Amino acid sequence: MQKPTLPPAESPLSGYPAIAERAERVAPFIVMDVMSQAAAIERRGGSVVHMEVGQPSAPTPRSIRTAVSHALEDGRIGYTQALGTDSLRARIARHYREAYGVAVAAERVVVTTGSSGGFILAFLACFQPGARVAITAPGYPAYRNILIALGLEPVAIEVGPETRFALTPELIERAHREKPLAGVLTMSPANPTGVVMRPEAIADVAACCRRLGLWYISDEIYHGLTYEAPATTALAADPDAIIVNSFSKYYCMTGWRVGWLVVPERLVRPIERLQQNFSISVPYLSQVAGEAAFDATEECEAIKAGYAANRAFLLAALPAIGLGDFLPVDGAFYIYLDIGRYSNDSMSFCRNALEGAGVAITPGLDFDEGRGGRTVRLSFAGSLAECEEAVSRLGTWLGRR
Ligand SMILES: Cc1ncc(COP(=O)(O)O)c(C=O)c1O
Repeated sequence: MQKPTLPPAESPLSGYPAIAERAERVAPFIVMDVMSQAAAIERRGGSVVHMEVGQPSAPTPRSIRTAVSHALEDGRIGYTQALGTDSLRARIARHYREAYGVAVAAERVVVTTGSSGGFILAFLACFQPGARVAITAPGYPAYRNILIALGLEPVAIEVGPETRFALTPELIERAHREKPLAGVLTMSPANPTGVVMRPEAIADVAACCRRLGLWYISDEIYHGLTYEAPATTALAADPDAIIVNSFSKYYCMTGWRVGWLVVPERLVRPIERLQQNFSISVPYLSQVAGEAAFDATEECEAIKAGYAANRAFLLAALPAIGLGDFLPVDGAFYIYLDIGRYSNDSMSFCRNALEGAGVAITPGLDFDEGRGGRTVRLSFAGSLAECEEAVSRLGTWLGRR
């Protein structure tokens, strides 16, 4: 019998089993749609300056690629232990001692498929089905979507300049009083705001979580990319904080899909069992790359100096074209702009910027469902020439040149 042709996405399904509601509820990344629109313009021969993508434009440092070439040549590319190779776990533990002066036993380190894989493992190990987890709005959209996909409840707490876009004990306690939370997730430096939480702010959140008996998860993926003071690890405030980190950003390794968790000892075995069953292990070559990354400091710092130059240029140039409403960017490679004086519809503002100015930027609605209509995010992970071109095009488009 011939199978019926697939119905259009929105029409009621007949003849097919239903798709799980938790999968249906997961929202797409709007930035991906911007990328497709930009690609369509480029296919027609148009020119686009890309400021929408949250990844380094620089290649992975050469020394990392050389280390992987040797491993590739050796040819023994097999499964590793589910928690990661001993040598990478030891190297990550050493990094905590050297970079932060914090002692971490290698046994508490779990190598993951990017920080994205780390979130899934940590959420599954820590939270019962239906548990409520506090996150910030604005914030990284995948937090919300991963939590929903796992049958957990994201509790998006609106934050603003008054708390430097960070959660505070007061905000956490208020949400917990309304209906008990099971955990709190913070990030520093943050996406999309670029704000770095001060050490006292992290210590306050950690103490609050301990007082209320909540898991505290700290996303530290943009560590290394700070322009004023270095970022503090939540481990310095509380050895039981769960740290999520990755080689993607500072080390320019988004495509390698390798990151890590540092977890309290009692979580190691449950997470090991999950990883054994989900993916057996993280790809071996990516783990070799991760280990070599810690010795690529010179190349990584040179790339970071490029971001610092882009940042300095944009902080001065954006206000001059009427886009000056943003917090000083302490870290990461994003500027989160308030465009309220031009529009409260960031989707059409971004569409028009793309079509009218040839500059791809991301609508704030990706990061803040409630207030993102009046904000946009610019990524300055490209070259200085691209930043200059973007400002020139946007300035002309906004009639400021
Ligand atoms: C705040 C934040 N956390 C986590 C991730 C996921 O990164 P990865 O899975 O590549 O480590 C990103 C990616 O943009 C991010 O911005």
